[in-house]
Amino acid sequence: MCGIVGIVGNHDSRNYLLNGLKSLEYRGYDSAGIAIMENQEIKNYRVVGRVHLLDSEIPSLINTSLGIGHTRWATHGAPSKRNCHPHKSNDGLFTIVHNGVIENFQEIKNSLREKGYEFYSDTDTEVIANVLEDEYKKTNSVLDAINNALKIIHGSLAIAIIFKNDSENLYFAKRKSPLLIGVGDKTNYLASDALPMIKTCVKFIDILDNQYGIIGEHDIKIYQDGVKQKAKYTTRNAELLNIDLGGYPHYMLKEIEEIPSCISRLIDNYFINGKYCFNEEMIEKLKTAKCVSFIACGTSYHASLIGKHYMESIGKMSNVYIASEWAYFPKFIDEDEIFILVSQSGETADVITCLKKINEFKTHPTITITNTKGSTLERDATYSALLYAGVEIAVASTKAYNAQVSLLYLLKSAIIDDYNASKKLLDNNILLNNIIERKDEIKEIANKVKDAHNAFFLGRGLDYFVAMEGSLKLKEISYIHSEAFPGGELKHGPIALIEENTPVFGFISNKDIALAIRGNFSEVKARKAIVYSFVTKENAISTDTFVMDDFDPDLSILGSVMTSQYLSYYVALLRGNDIDKPRNLAKSVTVE
Ligand code: G6P
Repeated sequence: MCGIVGIVGNHDSRNYLLNGLKSLEYRGYDSAGIAIMENQEIKNYRVVGRVHLLDSEIPSLINTSLGIGHTRWATHGAPSKRNCHPHKSNDGLFTIVHNGVIENFQEIKNSLREKGYEFYSDTDTEVIANVLEDEYKKTNSVLDAINNALKIIHGSLAIAIIFKNDSENLYFAKRKSPLLIGVGDKTNYLASDALPMIKTCVKFIDILDNQYGIIGEHDIKIYQDGVKQKAKYTTRNAELLNIDLGGYPHYMLKEIEEIPSCISRLIDNYFINGKYCFNEEMIEKLKTAKCVSFIACGTSYHASLIGKHYMESIGKMSNVYIASEWAYFPKFIDEDEIFILVSQSGETADVITCLKKINEFKTHPTITITNTKGSTLERDATYSALLYAGVEIAVASTKAYNAQVSLLYLLKSAIIDDYNASKKLLDNNILLNNIIERKDEIKEIANKVKDAHNAFFLGRGLDYFVAMEGSLKLKEISYIHSEAFPGGELKHGPIALIEENTPVFGFISNKDIALAIRGNFSEVKARKAIVYSFVTKENAISTDTFVMDDFDPDLSILGSVMTSQYLSYYVALLRGNDIDKPRNLAKSVTVE
């Protein structure tokens, strides 16, 4: 994980490095650091904690045209000052920031130690800096040293490098971890994604795996294995410009309330003049596929579970796999199987591993559903469909989930030539807007449960998938231990955990399961739990906690999930937690 930035040129470097890192904090925020070249000298500023703490460490006026920065999500070594990036090599020739994981770092460290190198941190990054130095001493060329290092080092990396004897250029290398160069006016930039550069650059260069190079104020050179490469230019994604809080206290609240507009935007992009405008070949492949298998992690995995239900409802065989499991136990069920990789960020390492495995076989087509244009998953899949949800900044995913489910609903409808889907989704937005109007009622529920130590979420069928996502959201940002169960499974163990006043959140959106799940509510109530029920009107009874408008259960679950998103938000707020940056998490999990 981690975010990296770099700058070379006349622009206000201090501002870019600090604000750039702030915009990348969603990738990790354990510690932060910046290195600048000032008067031929490299100065390193590092803090444990958030990027804003760097502000007081760095002099307000710095005279530099070359700098790199890092925000960290610890993988090797605790978040401590000694482990903060940037790291430098023993003789100080190389100072680097790194996003990724070096698999053979211990082996390399041992062999460098034998040569007399010493290490001052627990990180794998410091090993890269010293490999560069070691190779430079052999070749006397920074670019050759990087090329050699790429052969020695196994694993993922996006690195920005300052070389002590060159105050005019920034160096870089990439493998697996994302890296983008921003082309500016008399200044060039580098970052893990476009966000830090979005206000200053309109043109970007996608750096591909195993590429490395040199960036000057006016010139960018890219190499692979010693051979000069052509730059692959992309342009700015205008949606990225909407990254302000817009008057909201937290991104999570803003993003929940953007859900109806995200759904409308999806329809604007995929259903024009009464026709679906997905890639036609992709829809044909879906039509002929016997089996549709989803691969995803976290919230995207939960959205995929709904996707599986949609596919089964039109007679397709369907599976959902957790990416980190499928990567080790790949399964191909049918010759006519198509894989759908669902990932908000498009950069989740476990999902990328799965895509690479599928691609290696060259037998099965793949579709990536992602919010991030130009991401690795979008680039490397056979087909892709964007979510157009706008940047999601809060670590806990909300609008992306609803957009994923809505897109899967549109896809399912396109497969069976059902042209009513967009109208149904827009009508369902009424239900969502009504929930937004009534969010204070959910805040009151949050107030009643905010001090709980354990919570349970129950549902059956689609409502069980809602319960899973609700429970994940609650634990992510409130830190209350929470589990989700299918109502019927409760008696087979989990009910032992029910105590007096344990909050149990139950969902009913489908009359077929209403009686059965109410039976489960009674069972926990009999053991003195407190049940908070979120139900649609046709299934409601007088004691229900929150009653929503009726709608097709295939879509009203979007409302049920929204209630659970609000619930988590308010519980976390009342507990005084850092809602948009919950502890230990990162939004884009770029390590396996
Ligand atoms: C992390 C985030 C989750 C997210 C998951 C999958 O765990 O904290 O919010 O659901 O990654 O991310 P993706 O970008 O692949 O959807």
